[in-house]
This record gives sequence, C-alpha cells and structure tokens, in this order.
Amino acid sequence: MLGTDLVGFLRRQHEEVQAWDLPQHDITDVNRIINDIHDVGPDAIFHLAAWTDVDACESDPARAASVNFQGAWSVALAAAELGCKLVYLSTDYVFDGRSRRPYRENDTPSPLSAYGKSKLMGEQAVARTCRRRFIVRTSWLYGRHGRNFVDTIREKSRQEQRIEVVSDQFGSPTYSRDLCRPLWDLARSEHYGVFHVTNSGQCSWFQLAEEVVRLTGARCEVVPVDTARIARPAPRPQYSVLENSNFKRKFGKLLRPWQEALRSYIVEPTPAETGR
Ligand SMILES: NC(=O)c1ccc[n+]([C@@H]2O[C@H](COP(=O)([O-])OP(=O)(O)OC[C@H]3O[C@@H](n4cnc5c(N)ncnc54)[C@H](OP(=O)(O)O)[C@@H]3O)[C@@H](O)[C@H]2O)c1
Repeated sequence: MLGTDLVGFLRRQHEEVQAWDLPQHDITDVNRIINDIHDVGPDAIFHLAAWTDVDACESDPARAASVNFQGAWSVALAAAELGCKLVYLSTDYVFDGRSRRPYRENDTPSPLSAYGKSKLMGEQAVARTCRRRFIVRTSWLYGRHGRNFVDTIREKSRQEQRIEVVSDQFGSPTYSRDLCRPLWDLARSEHYGVFHVTNSGQCSWFQLAEEVVRLTGARCEVVPVDTARIARPAPRPQYSVLENSNFKRKFGKLLRPWQEALRSYIVEPTPAETGR
C-alpha cells in the first residue's frame, strides 16, 4: 500500500526509483537480496516490505521473524556495506498500549503481538547494523493501494445497516499519501534516528468508522463495542498514539489532522485524476 504511493510520489519529484516486490525480490533470500542491492548501488533504500497481517503473524511467529526481522537485517547489511541511507518503516504496535500519553521516540517498546515483536527486532537489527538509518514508526495506515480499515468500513457500510466497531483502542489514522513527503524529507537529510510520523490527532476505531460513514453518507449505524467482544488472534495495544516530536523538532512541521486527511482520501480526486 505505502510502497505504491511512495514510488509514485518519488517519481513525481523526478527521483530515479527502482521498485522491488515479491516474487522477483524476496527479502528472506538473504544472499540474493544483498547481491541485488550491491548491483544497483542506491543512494537510499526505503525498506517498507513486511508481513503485515497481524493476526496471521500470531499463528506463525517464525515466518513473521523471517520476513520482518531477518529481511530487515539483510537490507540493513547491504545498506551498511554500501554506506547508503536506509529508511525503515516500523509500527505503533511495538508499544504495549499501557501509556496514557502519546508515545515518544525514546519510550521503551514492549510489543504484545508476534507482528510487533518481529518489527521491533527489525528496528534493532537496522539500528545495530546501519549508521545512516531512519527508523520511522507510523500507525493505522490507509490508502488507495491495499486492504485497510477505512475501505473495509466503506464497503460494509454500503452493504449492512449496522456494524460493530471497537471503541476502546486509540491511535492516529494515517493516510499513506501524507507519509510520502516526510519519508523523502528524511531521506534527503542527515537526521538519523527514530521518528514517529502520523497524521495529527487521535481517535478510536469506532470514531474513525463513524467519520468514514459520515463522509460517505452511508445509511448505517455504527455501534461501539469493547475489544473483548470481537475476539482476534493477536492482541492490540489499547492506546498507541505516537507523539511526532522528533520530526517536528527537525523539520518544523506536523502532518495535517487525521480528519482532514480522511476527507481528502474519501472525497478528493486522486493525483492520476487531476494530473498532479
Ligand atoms: N498498514 C499499517 O497500518 C501499518 C502501520 C504501521 C506501520 N506499517 C509498516 O509500514 C510498512 C508498509 O505497510 P503497508 O501497509 O504498505 O504494507 P503492505 O501493503 O502489506 O505492503 C507490504 C509489502 O511487502 C511485501 N512483502 C511481504 N513479504 C515480502 C518478502 N518476503 N519479500 C519482499 N516483499 C515482501 C508484500 O508483498 P505481498 O503483497 O505480495 O505479500 C507487500 O507488497 C510496513 O513495514 C509495515 O510494517 C504499516
């Protein structure tokens, strides 16, 4: 999802980009991925590839670790050998959700799920291996090129009169298109470190669903329920709002509020439609 938006964005900035994905480039094929990166010799790598199915990761933690940890490690090794920059995408799910204030970059992670653990191991591998690295934690992504919560609610609210949505988990929904410029800003800088980058503000999944239904004008009742009512294989943090303080300090800006971003996603035309 994010990768497709980022490649489009970078090409519109006239950057020369090679976009890699399965099946041609498998990050678990360590030797091959390192050799392939050496062959290209990039100035910067955006490492977004991951196994992102949080519930599936829970039932196969070994595969989660292989893709999200060893995959990241391989890419970091190649980046370190070449001395190129590496932007690694990580997640709010590295935190346990017990905080009652937004998480800062230097708060101690303590993931609850196999997915969160594997992404944290990925962060640690990147941090230990590669000096010129940016670890970017984001949250609750939605966008035009992949399965996501906003699209699910949009679809369900067209077909059903009543949907139940969890109201006791809080985070910051983030539009994948809004993340592209910050990732590019980081990659052109020398501000190595950990960054939280999300749309501003916070809400529950229930509040996000209500806003989707309001913007689409669907005739559907959104009903708040507790996490306990909707059993899922992987535990989620109850509160995973990320304070974007490092990014604000280094770049003097924050991303727009999540409500504005969501409105753009739902009611505004795409860049392809406007020719932007
Ligand atoms: N989605 C979110 O809410 C969220 C929140 C916070 C952070 N993030 C992070 O942001 C990044 C981008 O997320 P996204 O939502 O854009 O994810 P996505 O749509 O699931 O994209 C991940 C990509 O990685 C590919 N991939 C999986 N295993 C691979 C392998 N072994 N080798 C090479 N590529 C492989 C997937 O290919 P297939 O589609 O063929 O499997 C997919 O194209 C990820 O690192 C994720 O952890 C996501």
